[in-house]
Amino acid sequence: MEILERDPHIELRVNSEDRGCTRDELVSGFQWADGALTMLSDKIDRELLEVAPRLRVVANYAVGYNNIDLTAANERHVVVTNTPHCLAEATADLTMGLLLAVARRLVEGDGLVRAGLFKGWAPEFLLGMDLHGKTLGIIGLGEIGTCVARRARAFGMRIVYCARHEAPTASELQAERVELPELLRRSDVVSLHCPLTAETKGMLGAAQLAAMKPTAYLINTARGACIDENALIEALRTHAIAGAALDVYDGEPNVKAGFMALKNVVLAPHLGSAATETRVTMGHVAISNILAVLNGGIAPNPVN
Ligand code: DGY
Repeated sequence: MEILERDPHIELRVNSEDRGCTRDELVSGFQWADGALTMLSDKIDRELLEVAPRLRVVANYAVGYNNIDLTAANERHVVVTNTPHCLAEATADLTMGLLLAVARRLVEGDGLVRAGLFKGWAPEFLLGMDLHGKTLGIIGLGEIGTCVARRARAFGMRIVYCARHEAPTASELQAERVELPELLRRSDVVSLHCPLTAETKGMLGAAQLAAMKPTAYLINTARGACIDENALIEALRTHAIAGAALDVYDGEPNVKAGFMALKNVVLAPHLGSAATETRVTMGHVAISNILAVLNGGIAPNPVN
């Protein structure tokens, strides 16, 4: 913000409330602005882009950009940018945190200690799953998936992955590329690291969850809508899979009540990139994209 505030050529309108913009605020901002720095919770649809006569750039403060109608942006020659590279490590850290939390039952354990129910060490008390020697199935071995795979290798896990193309990091990670049904059948942990697109929306439904091992865990730090959440609630309720750890939800910030009732799911509030240096860097990246376009140059991170 200081960089933008110091720039004498920039007039700023900022939502300084600790909440997302309302639709009315977005409309009034877009009617006025040449550039917009948007959050993943801001729905930048055709209707909004159509009220923005001056708009040249939308810099999304996220690597994902499924909140923006790219077709409408293209038609209006609006450059859309994201914040790649800088948040992969932080998101991978959180993925491993979620995996450990659910597979080693940390949240259950914490609740039990706080409730005064810790009665002492016992051989079969709160047993979880060993990670060493297990197979991690990564859906989307891009930047974040690769950072997760590196961490998982250090934990002694084997990697299988599915992706549209052979990943350049596959040999470093000794990662085997397989089709989704095989990944689901073989993995002890399945972790999603793909963008939300028409192709990935609902890609894990009842049939795919049923294909997973009953001992397997599902981790989602990508986008909630990649999973059919009602099918997941049912799979968790019936112990068709061992557990899940979720950072993202379809329709967030609303989280389906069905998840709340379950012990075998860990629920995080979209914290993937929520680490201080990462968020500062994301800000720099977003601003450099805006300034590049407004100064007549080429945005470093266009997605359209
Ligand atoms: C992103 O950047 O898309 C992440 O979901 C933010 O945590």
